[in-house]
Parts: sequence; structure tokens; C-alpha cells
Amino acid sequence: MDLVLTSGTWPREVTGEAVFSSPEPVPGVPYALFGPGRLCRLSLQPGTHGAPEGRFAWRSHRVDSPSARLFGAAPESFSAGPTGFTSPFGVPNQANTAPLPWGDRLFATWDVGRPAEVDPATLGFLGEVGHRDSWGDPALPMGGVLPFLLSSAHPVVDPERDCMWSVKLVIDMASGTQGVEVVHWDGTGTTVSRWPVRDAKVRGGAHCVTQSRDFLVLADSGNFIPDLGEMAGGERTAVIDTSTPVWVIRKDQLLSTPPGDTVEAVASTAAPSTGHMYARWDDGEGIQVLFEHMDLVDLGYRIEAGDLDSRGEPVDPALVGFYNMAMAPNTVSEMLIDPGTGRAETLGRLSEDWTHNLQLSAMDWSTEGLSAPTLHHVAVQGFRAGAVTRRAMQAYSDRLGGLPPEDTPGVLASLRRGDLGVASSYTYPNTGEQITSPVFVPRDPAAHHDPAGRPGDGHGGDTTRRSAYGGTDPGGHDGFVVVPVLSDEGMRVDLFDASCVGSGPVATLCTPAGECVPALLHSAWMPRAPRADSSLERLRFADEIDGHVEALPDELARIVHAVADQLADPSGG
Ligand SMILES: [Fe+2]
Repeated sequence: MDLVLTSGTWPREVTGEAVFSSPEPVPGVPYALFGPGRLCRLSLQPGTHGAPEGRFAWRSHRVDSPSARLFGAAPESFSAGPTGFTSPFGVPNQANTAPLPWGDRLFATWDVGRPAEVDPATLGFLGEVGHRDSWGDPALPMGGVLPFLLSSAHPVVDPERDCMWSVKLVIDMASGTQGVEVVHWDGTGTTVSRWPVRDAKVRGGAHCVTQSRDFLVLADSGNFIPDLGEMAGGERTAVIDTSTPVWVIRKDQLLSTPPGDTVEAVASTAAPSTGHMYARWDDGEGIQVLFEHMDLVDLGYRIEAGDLDSRGEPVDPALVGFYNMAMAPNTVSEMLIDPGTGRAETLGRLSEDWTHNLQLSAMDWSTEGLSAPTLHHVAVQGFRAGAVTRRAMQAYSDRLGGLPPEDTPGVLASLRRGDLGVASSYTYPNTGEQITSPVFVPRDPAAHHDPAGRPGDGHGGDTTRRSAYGGTDPGGHDGFVVVPVLSDEGMRVDLFDASCVGSGPVATLCTPAGECVPALLHSAWMPRAPRADSSLERLRFADEIDGHVEALPDELARIVHAVADQLADPSGG
């Protein structure tokens, strides 16, 4: 689609590309979060990427990975359960949760699979990160050519070491928990390195990884707990914890330890349980982490046909398959963690009666912005009585406070890093709309970019020049915030001045004929979307099927070989 400017003036300093991850709605999938991944890209300068003059290119493409291609070729072979799809081919990697830029490269991620690289220009699939053998044993021995790997939907790119850090989870059936391994990829070749972390066990997952200059920070994102009883066909009984363990691991220790050997972590705690966390790059005074907590958001509860909502009314059939939304206001906290002891000091904390459903946010990801963050922009979607089920309320009856008497508005709020005071906020009055993933766009990055530096890297010592991701005055306050708003009248995109979102949108784009889009999850910004560098070595599906494809029935094996051939041929891949 080519979006149309319907109000305001679109500033010339808004440049680059906003990218969004989305799970595609698939008939029959019981949980919307398990749909095949799609990437959407909004070009922020009119008349680019194929849009006519004055229009803005919104381009959407399925992550056409081996998983998606096998699903497309033999959908009858895939069956959907409470934890997603399984098939004789293995467990598909839906890559539907977050876009992860790395300089001029772009990856799509999720918790149940490896990051998948796509071409920023065409959004076509290029390859998954790391040969399956280098990821080690799958989480469960389910067989097939699609390995069942539990990972993180938010790996991080290390701008100084020029590598990607992620995790792999190892199921321990005896304790019902998962061990944690750190995963490292240097961006070249088809091998990742792994180090088990001593005594690190998660109940839920490790949804988000964050980092400072010298440390990785991991946490149990316990808002999605696999329920073995439910997986066996029974009722869901697992509930989320009230706090979450956090681990701090020194990067130098990882890189000086032979892969496969165990590394030590310093343990800390955060409460309530947390989905996303973002550390300040500079860690000389300790590791300063902003936690977006998910108070009484249990992603294991999805809305089912026959459910009653919090008002006792039958749920809207259109919401079946969506997750059960927040049953309490969500908290944001900023902690200073001592990496030697794990002791954590609270620097700031925000939880208000308007902070229900805060899972999506925007910040300045440039090295300069991470070093001196100023504003953290959060999208609060508001309380939604119709998306909270009596079934989930019953499971949390001993922890549930009062629910708001009616739906509360969506709010875009800019929080000061440190004390988390609300610097500015904008309230969306229409509770029938859903504000979704905001994107921070630095002002005029090209004017300050050092073209001699590698894109996405630091500024190489010349402080008058910045990385490709750095704008005029990095930190999060100088630039723009792009917010897609989902509405039955069609999607629109609001643009705010990042320094004063409370002034309201400075410009708005709309879909040309009122088209709607399905749920958008996380977002990111890239300074540009060039064609991928074809000279880089990438994993080929054909190189990891031997030893696995032979066990499939002939007809399915033929499909696997056909998909491997498609992906090996660049013109068809
Ligand atoms: Fe996430």
C-alpha cells in the first residue's frame, strides 16, 4: 500500500525506514501469536521504494523461510496446539515478533527459533542464524528438518564487538525449568558459539536480552509459562511469578571461555515479572536497566470461544485467539544493578491507573543514544475489559485488585530515563482503537554520519561524527516518534515530535482506502533499506537437512528437497 498524508505537514528531517513484525492471521491457529511472521516496512520519505510522489510506501512480506515454505506446500501436515504448530517436518520458526537491524542488515526474531535474516529492500528471506548443529540439541527430540529451538525474541547487537548476543534454552524435564545458554554470533559464517550459564534456570523464557558495554543482562520472562497439563489436553493451571530472577554476565568472561564450558553469572531480582528491559550502555557506575514489567499479563492465557469477558459477557468472536490482556496497571522501573553483588537500587518507578498494557516502546538505539539515553517512549494500550476473561481472573483471584470500571484510553508517554517521570504524554480518546508499536526516528542522521565508519557502529573517536543510527542530538528526545494506530476505519500512522508528544501528532498518514492491518508486534528503525550484501556467507537450508530428511515419508521428503532447491536458487529464493 502507499499511505496518504491526511493531516499536518510531514517534516523533511524524517528519514529512513520503520519496520514492524507481525504474526499473520492463519485460519485454525488457536493463538494469534503463533502465526507465520510477516515484516512490514514504512518508508518515511514520500515517493521512495516504489511509492508515487507524495505517498509513503508500506510494504509487507511474509518471512518466506523454510518453515513458511513447508507450511505453504503442505499445510495439512501442520497441527496447531497450545504451544504452536508441530509437524513431521519439525517445529516451524515463525520469526514473527521483532525486527532486529544490524547496520544495513535486518533480522526477524521470535522465541521459538533462530533469528531469520531478510533483505531490507525486498524483505525476502536470506537465511537463519547458525547451523542447527552449532545450536546443539533441540529443546525436545521432535525430529524433522525444522529444529525445535527455544531462544530469545530480542537478541542484541553489540556495537563495539560487532556481534549478536542471544540465548538458547535447554528444557530440564525433571525440574520443569529451562537452563540458559548464552549464544554468540559474529555475523559471518554459519556457526554460533554457546556457553551454559551456571545455575540460571527460567520457568517462562528469556524473551529479552539486554546489554551494557561490558555485561549481558538476562532475565526469566515468566509471563509465558508452558503448562504441561494444558499441553496434555487439560485445563491451564500455571500462573506467573510475582518476581523474576535476573543474571548479569561479563562479556569478557564469555569471550575468554571455550565455547561449551560453563560461565558464571551474578544473580539479581526484579519485580513484578518483566517482559522487556533496556540497559544503558555506559556501566561504570553499575548497570542501569529500565524494566517494562508485565504485572498480571499472563500470555499463556489466550481468549477462547465460549469465554466470558471480565464483565460476564460472551467474548467478541473476533478476539478469540488473542492474548488475555492486562489485569493490572503495568509498572516501569529503572534499577541500578551492582554487577559484583547483584544488589539492585531503584532509581525510578512508574505505575498509574492509566498504565494497563504496556508492552511496546521506542528508544534511540544508536550507540550514542544508548550511552546517554534521555527519553523512553512507551505505548500504553489501555485497559480492555472485553479482552480479559473470567477464566484468567479466576486463576488470579488471590492476586487481582479491582479492575477499572470501563476501558481506559491508549497513551503515548515519554518517560525520563532515570527517575521515570512523565516528560510528556498524549492520550488517545478513542478506546475502540489500538495504538501499537512506536518507533523512534532520530533527527537528520545523515547530516552527522561518518561515511567512513561502519553503519551501526560507533563514531570511531571523532565526536563530531556519529554512527549511522545517531541523529542531531542523540538520546531519544530529538527526533520523531512514529505510532501506527489500528482501527476498524483503517490503519493510520501518527507522527509526533519526540520532545513533546503531548502536543499531539504533527502529521498523520492513512491507508489509501481504509485498509486494516492485523496485530503489529515490535518495531525498529533503520537509516536506509538497501539490497542485502550478497557476498556474505549465509546458512543454506540445503546444508542442514541431511541426517533429518531421510526419516520423512517420501512425499514429505520430496517437498523438503524442493524447498531446499528453491532457497538455493537466488533468483527463486
Ligand atoms: Fe517482545
